[in-house]
Amino acid sequence: MSDSKIIASEILPIQKIRADFPILSRKINGKTLIYFDNGATSQKPQVVIDAIDTYYKNQNANIHRGVHTLSQKITMAYENARTTIQKHLNAEHAHEIIFTKGTTDSINLVASSFGKKFISSGDEIIISAMEHHSNILPWQQLCEEKGAILKVVPINDEGELVMEEYKKLLNEKTRMVAITHISNVLGTINPVKEIIELAHAKNIPVLVDGAQAVPHTLANMQELDCDFYCFSAHKLFGPTGVGILYGKEKWLNAIPPYQVGGGTIKTVSFDKTEYADLPLKFEAGTPHIEGGIGLAAAINYVNEIGLDNIAAYEHELLAYATEALIKIEGLKIIGTAKNKASVISFIVEGLHPFDIGTILDQLGIAVRTGHHCTQPLMQCYNIQGTVRASFAFYNTKAEIDEFLKGLERAIKMLK
Ligand code: ALA
Repeated sequence: MSDSKIIASEILPIQKIRADFPILSRKINGKTLIYFDNGATSQKPQVVIDAIDTYYKNQNANIHRGVHTLSQKITMAYENARTTIQKHLNAEHAHEIIFTKGTTDSINLVASSFGKKFISSGDEIIISAMEHHSNILPWQQLCEEKGAILKVVPINDEGELVMEEYKKLLNEKTRMVAITHISNVLGTINPVKEIIELAHAKNIPVLVDGAQAVPHTLANMQELDCDFYCFSAHKLFGPTGVGILYGKEKWLNAIPPYQVGGGTIKTVSFDKTEYADLPLKFEAGTPHIEGGIGLAAAINYVNEIGLDNIAAYEHELLAYATEALIKIEGLKIIGTAKNKASVISFIVEGLHPFDIGTILDQLGIAVRTGHHCTQPLMQCYNIQGTVRASFAFYNTKAEIDEFLKGLERAIKMLK
């Protein structure tokens, strides 16, 4: 064990942290919930629940639309939330932070708006073999519409990008690289800084899908120098239905609005519309106000614990679970990259992931089973699906022990 791992479990007050998450004490099928499905969505601390509760009890009004006190105050709170997110991401400007419905919506926005302006027949867009469907389909659809070509960076057996192949794919026809920061299935942490530098050397912009990264690591926009970064609040301990698109000012100014309507304009007549400046140009309709405020509350909460502490502690959980899982006969971990986040996917010879997941659920243990919205990745490994345990900082080694016992039991029952 490295020093950082020892420090992590010593300094994080896990039981106190767990008490902040009301759902962690509920029973599922008569057992205390063990929640290992954080890759799908994370649980919410009381401060986030309180922020939403307070909004509806005391603050509810529409934003950017009223002179009355409630509207003015909530507009300020919403814009303060935007600034909290900007600071967290170390983005240069608050207007580079666009509120969306989530990662999928953010990627669709870029594919649609960037695509309209900058993609033509014969152009190439690079994604990777480990992308979630949300970072495949918008690009695939765009390519079909425009006659562009989707290029895919392959992965090796460990689940790491083959960087030599990536370098070969970058050429004068490449218009965009869209890549995940952390794989939702393999847990691989991709070398996004290097990916961005290589693309930028050829003046190619890069979109990073940060959905699985933001709960585990600090994503620093100015340091990464990425052009677009997307994530969902609900995986970062915030509410569902809201997410973020970070875009460099120059790109957000260069591309057209995605959806248009109330809130996106300066002036409208039946002849012509002049659109609003950033960020409102991309925020049509009444937004998910309590979602934005809840996300800021989640970010403040996470920052009190510290993402470095979180990453070190989760790494301990990952190492602990991996060490035990590889000893189980017939079990194979899918995704063994050197640089991994706290996500473990595995298959057990002869058993269906769904059956394992169902038995674990009977024991109060929540894991995800199936293709995890990454069918092309499953095809790379020639499998139908996996069982996936994804850990957050409120999980414990004691829970992993229970999970291992449950897994052994499931294997015995099913074999
Ligand atoms: N993309 C989410 C997951 O991996 C939903 O579970």
